[in-house]
Amino acid sequence: SWTMANYAKTAIANIKETVGDGKVVLALSGGVDSSVAAALISKAVGSQLTCIFVDHGLLRKNEGDEVEAAFKDSGMNFIRVDASERFLKKLEGVSDPERKRKIIGEEFIRVFEDEGRKIGSVDFLAQGTIYPDVIESGAGDAAVIKSHHNVGGLPAVVDFKGLIEPLRNLFKDEVRELGAELGLPEYLVWRQPFPGPGLAIRVMGEITKEKLAILRDADAIFREEIANAGMQRDINQYFAVLTNNHSVGVMGDFRTYDYTLALRGVTTTDFMTADWARIPYDVLDKISSRIVNEVDHINRIVYDITSKPPATIEWE
Ligand code: XMP
Repeated sequence: SWTMANYAKTAIANIKETVGDGKVVLALSGGVDSSVAAALISKAVGSQLTCIFVDHGLLRKNEGDEVEAAFKDSGMNFIRVDASERFLKKLEGVSDPERKRKIIGEEFIRVFEDEGRKIGSVDFLAQGTIYPDVIESGAGDAAVIKSHHNVGGLPAVVDFKGLIEPLRNLFKDEVRELGAELGLPEYLVWRQPFPGPGLAIRVMGEITKEKLAILRDADAIFREEIANAGMQRDINQYFAVLTNNHSVGVMGDFRTYDYTLALRGVTTTDFMTADWARIPYDVLDKISSRIVNEVDHINRIVYDITSKPPATIEWE
């Protein structure tokens, strides 16, 4: 009968046979898909797999360290590349969303290639491509709304013998089930999706270190309060967006002229359409007062009440 345990067994046997004694590299983002793919391939070929985690400096608060902590002690070959300066430099002065995506996607490949070269004679590239990705990329003449840069979707720019995509036939919920079957920690298995370009598309306009720091702190408070309200699984994706708008406020006796922060929360099953999440007013209130009190340079908070369509989930 078809169970996830059987699926894992068959997949592991197939990977073993394909890889033989070859070397495999995988781009690990810390997201569900690449993490599950890493765990599966590691079960099959052990130390022949090297996971490369490109830290582009556009992750959420503490996220890089969390990914490192989750994989470093797992016995896998795990490399964290701190490429934040490289990415920030490339993004300097860039405010167009599509250009940001393109720059990040290209730089990602370069960093990955550089690391691959250091490992030397890599035979296989592994990716956490899942079934919806396969369909999406096959959608021939569909209009490009956003050029998705997926860290699991690297083009094979280096000469690899082959591509290993053990999750190609699975939907997201099945990937989570497989992750649990493989013994991955719950917080990894239930992670909300996080876009490849990261916070670059949640800081409107030009990206600076200062804006990233403001957004990180605000976003962390938002997530913390959603967790405190026990709503992490009711809202499928939620995050803060640092708008490029300044408005006048008052703090004590002083006039402020600071950023407007937007909060976004959606409920959805497939992320193709989405409804804005009905977060209770008292939860929103708590989030709002904590953020304006604890994070400098934010003096106004708005909640995004548009669904997709006509809006998209991300703001860029
Ligand atoms: P949108 O904004 O298009 O987002 O409604 C739909 C889902 O896709 C995620 N997203 C991305 N994921 N690379 C990714 O890996 C990207 O470039 C990208 N852009 C959007 C978004 O977070 C949401 O879950």
